[in-house]
Parts: sequence; structure tokens; C-alpha cells
Amino acid sequence: TWPFYACALAAYLLGSIPFGLVFTRLAGLGDVRKIGSGSIGATNVLRTGNKLIALATLICDAGKGAAAVLIAARYGPDMAVIAAACSLLGHCFPVWLKFKGGKGVATAFGTLIALSPAVAALAGLTWLAMAVLFRYSSLSALTACLAAPSYMEWLVDRQHAELAAFMAVLIFIRHHANIRRLLKGEESKINLSKKKPA
Ligand code: G3P
Repeated sequence: TWPFYACALAAYLLGSIPFGLVFTRLAGLGDVRKIGSGSIGATNVLRTGNKLIALATLICDAGKGAAAVLIAARYGPDMAVIAAACSLLGHCFPVWLKFKGGKGVATAFGTLIALSPAVAALAGLTWLAMAVLFRYSSLSALTACLAAPSYMEWLVDRQHAELAAFMAVLIFIRHHANIRRLLKGEESKINLSKKKPA
């Protein structure tokens, strides 16, 4: 059925817009893929030292996930769930960047905002609590991802819990290098004070 595939493809394409890469280039900060973790996400954009561009990346990466869900929701709740998954796939594996994209945290968060603001708030608080306690962006995201399916099951339904579990698996896969660094004690911490990491 073509509306299904059209919606899925549109969500993928929306998710595949690499805002972090575009913004850092426009700001003359060079190629964000060549610094820090090499990711195009807000955490790595922050390593350029430009907080405003990092915030813009966070908002737009989340916004595209939310937009994909809200547009697809006009074709029914199932379509919204498919669009959430496809926008995340687009962000993580964008066709424009030879399928090497971001780690999916902001985009997944954006889909949660659109699907269930209550779940998004709980996931966001989980992220924040871990960030305040340990100062690792990756660990905060991974913890929020682990908790999100339970929040969905509790506040929404099983289908949405399965979506959250799918997104968590994808985000864990994209964080394999971070997980290795965390285990070795070599992961870099969130740094809002210094201009650039040494
Ligand atoms: O949101 C991405 C974050 O969890 C890790 O980013 O650049 O430290 O690999 P990064």
C-alpha cells in the first residue's frame, strides 16, 4: 500500500537531514565528523566549543523526529509509530553520508515528545539525573533508553513500548564505541565550561 511506504520514506528522509553537520559547516567550524567522537550529534557539536550551535542541533534533530511523527499521525496512530522508527533510522543511517549518521538520542527524544509528552518528560528527567550525577552524555542517554520501554508500557501501551525497545536497541548499537570507552573509563564528560576540550 503506497501511502504506508510514502510515509515511511518521508520520515526516513526527514530524519536523515544532518543538522549538526550543516550547522557546523555554516558556522565555519569545519567538519564535525573529524573532531571528538566523530558523531554529527549535539554532544559532539558541543565539543567545537559553540554552545549555541550545539543547542540548535539538539532542537532541530529532536524537531525532525517530532515533525515526522506529527505528520504521520494524520494517517493514523500506527503510521506515527512507523514514522518514529523510520526518522530514527534516517538520522542514524543517512543515505547522504554513506549511512554514517548520528547516534539517535535527540531524534528519538523528539519522537517521544510527539508520541507521549509524559514519557518524554520521564525520559528527559532520567537523562538529566544521570548527567548531573555522572556527567557522561552517552551513559545518560543509554540509561534513559533502557527506561523508556517501561515508561511507555506504563503510560501508553505495548505497541509503543515495543517501539521504544526498538529505538533503544538501535541507539545502543550506535553507542558501541561509547560503551567500550565507558567500560575502560575513557569516555569524555560533558563540558559546558571550557571553550574546547584539550
Ligand atoms: O547523544 C549522543 C551521546 O550519547 C554521545 O555522543 O559524541 O559523545 O559519542 P558522543
